[in-house]
Amino acid sequence: MRLRHFHTLKPVCPVCGARGEVRPLTLIDPVMREDDVETGLLACPSPECQATYPILQGAPILLADLSSWLASNLHLVLQSDVYHAGVDGLLARALGPDTAFAVVRQQAASYGYEHYGDLDPASGCEHTAPGGVRRMAADLLDALPPASGPSLDLGCAAGRTSFDLADRTLDLVLGIDLNWPLLKIARGVIGQGVARYPHRRIGNRYEPRILSAPLDTEGRADFWVADALNLPFAAGTFRRVMALNLLDCVSSPTGAVQEANRILAPGGHMFLATPFDWAPHATPAAAWQDEADLPALVAAAFSPYPSPLRPAVPPQDIVWRVRLHERSHMHYRCQGMAYKKEG
Ligand SMILES: C[S@@+](CC[C@H](N)C(=O)[O-])C[C@H]1O[C@@H](n2cnc3c(N)ncnc32)[C@H](O)[C@@H]1O
Repeated sequence: MRLRHFHTLKPVCPVCGARGEVRPLTLIDPVMREDDVETGLLACPSPECQATYPILQGAPILLADLSSWLASNLHLVLQSDVYHAGVDGLLARALGPDTAFAVVRQQAASYGYEHYGDLDPASGCEHTAPGGVRRMAADLLDALPPASGPSLDLGCAAGRTSFDLADRTLDLVLGIDLNWPLLKIARGVIGQGVARYPHRRIGNRYEPRILSAPLDTEGRADFWVADALNLPFAAGTFRRVMALNLLDCVSSPTGAVQEANRILAPGGHMFLATPFDWAPHATPAAAWQDEADLPALVAAAFSPYPSPLRPAVPPQDIVWRVRLHERSHMHYRCQGMAYKKEG
């Protein structure tokens, strides 16, 4: 955790936040690596709450239900990498495609390539061009004048759009996600200037990619584990909030819009895009928006009151392709919108 981000963004306790109380967290026993907190604790100052949150491998884990996340993810945090391509391939073949290891690896391969494939000299031979989500972000951000102030990238995955935001705004950016293996790719870029991910050729055949990625020279980006539905920040903390391809992955899409609006400063901008590719394991069918229309989803988030978010540009159709392997990709037609918050 970068001290600059901690002091500027003043994270608050998510347990108290769930009750509508705002309690800025205190940093306890930090172990530093230059200006970054490598490990330590963030504690709620309220005597009634006393919740504490760990900083693991530089990432604060700011979740109200810390136990559930740790139960599903701590082994991924502590897992070490296999650096030998032959050993790695043997392990993958021995395990087969249906294990948790294989599922996690496929996801890391898709988002690693999509976010950092442009830095891979071999990507010129690929059927699917990387960087669709970066073009999506650029389409939405280009429509508005640049402005300073901190930005939040919700569901940032491997983090490349957070670096793009930092380059545009020349200000602090925080990427948040719940997915440790994807966030770890982003954290490798701020820590070591290296994008490290598995590259899937086809089937069960992967090659490691370790790409030079000097994208964070000014130290503007940081990546934390936090929940888009219960953000650990006081109201109005950010000037810009971006949520690309997130709304169809959360249990409450309207709740995510309300929460993004809460932490957005009056006059700030929100950038949303989604392919409306609802999955029952992520979003219960009762919460699916059948209109597949962002203006309708945003209006539903504030109903029966008028939305404080005013469209800043009309809805746009944006193509997004996610590579699965060298002969396959998912092709989405997303709807994207930029909004300005009243005030
Ligand atoms: C479809 S991916 C899109 C990632 C990235 N924005 C992009 O377009 O390349 C959705 C991301 O949202 C994250 N996510 C899902 N639910 C979340 C939540 N409640 N809070 C934070 N992130 C979440 C997932 O882990 C995943 O990385």
